[in-house]
Amino acid sequence: MKTQVGIIGAGPAGLILAQLLQLQGIDSVILERKSRNNIEGTVKAGILEQTTIDILREIGVGSRMDREGHFHNGNYFQFNGQRRHIDLKKYSGGKQVVVYPQHEAIIDLVNARYENGKDIIFDVEDVTLHEIDTNQPKIRYCKNGLDEELVCDFIAGCDGFHGPSRHAIPENIRKEHLHFYPFGWLGILSDSAPAADELIYSNHDQGFALLSTRTPTLQRHYLQVDPYDDIANWSDDRIWSELTARTKTNDGWQVPDGPITSKGIFQMRSFVCETMQYGRLFIAGDAAHTVPPTGAKGLNLAATDVKVMSRGITEYYQKGSTYILDRYSEICLRRVWKAERFSYFMTRLLHTNPNYDSFERGVQLAELDYYTSSEAGLRTIAENYVGLPIEWEK
Ligand code: FAD
Ligand code: DHB
Repeated sequence: MKTQVGIIGAGPAGLILAQLLQLQGIDSVILERKSRNNIEGTVKAGILEQTTIDILREIGVGSRMDREGHFHNGNYFQFNGQRRHIDLKKYSGGKQVVVYPQHEAIIDLVNARYENGKDIIFDVEDVTLHEIDTNQPKIRYCKNGLDEELVCDFIAGCDGFHGPSRHAIPENIRKEHLHFYPFGWLGILSDSAPAADELIYSNHDQGFALLSTRTPTLQRHYLQVDPYDDIANWSDDRIWSELTARTKTNDGWQVPDGPITSKGIFQMRSFVCETMQYGRLFIAGDAAHTVPPTGAKGLNLAATDVKVMSRGITEYYQKGSTYILDRYSEICLRRVWKAERFSYFMTRLLHTNPNYDSFERGVQLAELDYYTSSEAGLRTIAENYVGLPIEWEK
């Protein structure tokens, strides 16, 4: 089989890229390890920033998000039992974020792909990349027990942190930066009322908590826990008692509770792979970088990476120019490092670090006070949270 762009992975990066290319008349084939049900049902991200909202609208998959998503003009930071509002819209020149679950965006993107008359090859196994430094790179895979080969002009590695694409870049060319945190997140879904009109990021001596939402009757909340803790240690009562203690305010407000319908613990890390390209292979999203979730940036970075990639590939086919493609990694990494910085900053600002001494804890509280009260502080949180622009030129 032959195509112009072979896309590995039907996550946000792969599916948005396919749609961006389709709008320019560029053919692609998507190979996905999991089933359609699996990718459409996995609960992950919740917050889409303005740049991602704009991209989804541009590629014609924004209508359900516009109808059913919850658009927020701000969020709350809480510490010492006080809640402070961050007016994201005011301090970012009118931008917003939307609470629209990742798996709903995936459903919209998969539907759009089929509406275009195009397919996604699900349940593939043993994906390997070949001859990526030639003009005809190849992807080999196994489907229904049969070995297949896809010959491409370009390969887009959109296969997440554990996928094979990044590893196809020779080790002596790749520089990887990995940072672990002494924190994990326990995430729940609960049948309960929304905590507030906007998200609450709460710092507390017992640990960080985040109160988010999905629908008026389904909430998504997170608790900072030991990254190696076992979910079996967390009864529903213990989860609600910690969420309540870490988010209650001095005026007696308490988070509404209800039956917990799902719960799980995950670790967090920061990771950047320099470079994001080699020959005819371009990697995007979690395949190239990951962030701790505190800044809500992972999916959003995936969307902007593939925006850059699609423009580069389009210029190649329409003008014969490789100007953008040659600088793909440089353009993406400039923005990626800024989102990494923001996610690292938010994580350190909001979590309770078991290794901090009382001086460091005092500085952390002063930082929370400063960033939520000074105009400069509010502006820097707002412009990063809603998403920085892509800088095409140096
Ligand atoms: P993925 O979503 O990982 O997709 C990669 C795809 O490639 C998968 O479908 C996978 O099955 C497939 N694949 C892997 N290996 C192979 C192979 N060998 N062959 C074929 N296919 C393969 N981000 C935000 O922006 N905002 C948030 O609010 C936010 N909250 C989050 C909350 C949680 C709890 C978590 C876990 C993440 C959150 N994120 C958030 C991050 C976001 O979910 C990820 O950054 C995003 O999924 C990355 O998209 P991707 O397409 O790069 O990778
Ligand atoms: C959600 C996840 C995040 O990482 C975040 O910072 C805000 C909200 C969510 O899943 O709703």
